[in-house]
Amino acid sequence: MNIDLLLGLQWGDEGKGKIVDYLTQKYDIIARFQGGPNAGHTLEFNGIKHVLHTIPSGIFHPKAINVVGNGVVIDPVIFKKELEALDKYDVNYQDCLLISRKAHLILPTHRLLDAASETSKGKAKIGSTLKGIGPTYMDKTGRNGIRIGDLEFDNWKTKYRNLATKHQALINFYDVDVQYDLEELETEFFEAIEKIKSLKFIDSEEYLYNAIKNEKNILAEGAQGSLLDIDFGTYPFVTSSNTTAAGACTGLGIAPNRIQRVFGIFKAYTTRVGSGPFPTELFDDNGKHMAKIGHEFGATTGRPRRCGWLDLVALKYAVQVNGVTNLMMMKADVLSGLNTLKVCTSYNYNGNQIHHLPYNLEAEDLEPVYEEFEGWKEDITKLTSFEELPDTLKVYIKFIENYLDVNIKIVSVGPDRKETIMR
Ligand code: IMP
Repeated sequence: MNIDLLLGLQWGDEGKGKIVDYLTQKYDIIARFQGGPNAGHTLEFNGIKHVLHTIPSGIFHPKAINVVGNGVVIDPVIFKKELEALDKYDVNYQDCLLISRKAHLILPTHRLLDAASETSKGKAKIGSTLKGIGPTYMDKTGRNGIRIGDLEFDNWKTKYRNLATKHQALINFYDVDVQYDLEELETEFFEAIEKIKSLKFIDSEEYLYNAIKNEKNILAEGAQGSLLDIDFGTYPFVTSSNTTAAGACTGLGIAPNRIQRVFGIFKAYTTRVGSGPFPTELFDDNGKHMAKIGHEFGATTGRPRRCGWLDLVALKYAVQVNGVTNLMMMKADVLSGLNTLKVCTSYNYNGNQIHHLPYNLEAEDLEPVYEEFEGWKEDITKLTSFEELPDTLKVYIKFIENYLDVNIKIVSVGPDRKETIMR
């Protein structure tokens, strides 16, 4: 074993944080490869709930080394708050948290630009988390960004000032009302930079290459979900990074042939935050049940998540793009109590039945075609083995496995680390 990947297969919020935390004892290194503080990874154990945004989910395990890869974008202000939250739990992050020099910094003006861009879009807005993700990746690919490694050189503040000034001009260009006090934002930003500078910076590609040579086991942790991938997601309602398996190679500097297993995580139903197409979205009591029982509110923004039936057409697409070898089904307990369950197995589109994700998922004449299943009434949160699961849930699982042609190895039956059934 060398490198395994762990990815979300839907529109994010599948429960990656919980599973990374659960699997961590099997790995020496947990490495986050893309995204930024738009993510909110929730971990629960010993009755306490922790939410991480940028820091990898292996941080609570004393032996794991946590790497923030070059593909990640870091907001120092949020990062500092995350570190301060860890201080309460005596986490030794000075030794077990390493940051790639090539990771890009989110500046205060990136956040303002995000807000200006979203406001200017009106009804067509993406529903961004407004954490500055899009503008930061734009500066990265536009070759204007500031990287963590720049902080080791004296001239970084000149680079910063030039970029911030350009951003201010761009904010004015949008001609929308964005109120801000840059001086105040910068005081907080520069203070946070000092905190970040106390951490260890590495060349993650070199570090991981040596780790692989020394037979260390690495888990690459994704953020968001495959349908939010900048290339393969429901563009333009996506995030600005490659959330799919290939992103782990570019976001960490690891070679594709080192990757062994690809763990794909999905919820037993579907959710989405922000705008964009969602064919199986529910507006009835079933959707309300999922939202209420599943506590479907964004871990980063607190926004209510849209809920709907499991979409196997979309899931199969994600399994294919990522080369998923093992599936993990989350939040099965949330469906307990529903009389009938549905899964989408094809779409009616333009008068034809199709089994693939069409280019335009927003089309008005696209209708999901469902298969129905009997639900289960019992509380499954205390069950510890696959055999104990209700028969109707086993039928539901078997159908999904057959459709996707990949086995489900983990069924999560509650938010706590302990409420996880390994098969
Ligand atoms: P951004 O990445 O903050 O610009 O947001 C772009 C889209 O991705 C919006 O629809 C967000 O709601 C969504 N998004 C970003 N991060 C997450 C996440 O961690 N979970 C779920 N949705 C996300």
